[in-house]
Amino acid sequence: MNVFSKVIVAWYKVNKRDLPWRESKDPYLIWISEIILQQTRVVQGYNYYLRFIERFPDIQTLADAEEEEVMKYWQGLGYYSRARNLHAAAISMNGRFPKTYPGVLALKGVGEYTAAAICSLAYNMPCAVVDGNVYRVLSRYFGIDLPIDSTEGKKYFASLADEMLDKQQPALYNQGIMDFGALQCTPQSPDCTSCPLSETCLGYATGRVAKLPVKKYK
Ligand code: ADE
Repeated sequence: MNVFSKVIVAWYKVNKRDLPWRESKDPYLIWISEIILQQTRVVQGYNYYLRFIERFPDIQTLADAEEEEVMKYWQGLGYYSRARNLHAAAISMNGRFPKTYPGVLALKGVGEYTAAAICSLAYNMPCAVVDGNVYRVLSRYFGIDLPIDSTEGKKYFASLADEMLDKQQPALYNQGIMDFGALQCTPQSPDCTSCPLSETCLGYATGRVAKLPVKKYK
């Protein structure tokens, strides 16, 4: 296993955030949390998640509910198509959460990031998550200035993310890189002096941490 992944997993074990959706491997609960977190910050999504799963604890309860009531539980979160898609997807499941990556990806409202998050966190499948946190951490650590919003950049980072993924423990690694990006390798003024990766970080060595990741269109 590469140094980068080892450090990410070790860092996570010490620094992980205690979040309610991390207490379970139930794909339904992980799905609900990932849909909330698509456009909502963890601190804001936290209580919505708890209220939502208290009222709709499983697929069938959600599928059987009236759409109007589902919308009520989403009130204030915004991007309401998320709630409509959740309800429609729950109905489409016929009581069983899909067990394959293509099956999860086919759910209404689920894109590549969310499918990778669900499959790795619930099923421990070797799917690397790639989001803003991951672009930032990888571009800095490997000193890559390819724009993350270019076709070439997206391909490059997707393949690098896949290569770095700890295939033995994808759930730990993916949550590790999420939290590492959120808490340690932050967008503005990250604390590189306390970073366990700084010694081998190319962005740090070349003084480019603040300039990475690069975007073509700002
Ligand atoms: N952002 C998206 N998914 C997340 C998760 N599972 N934990 C923390 N932040 C996230």
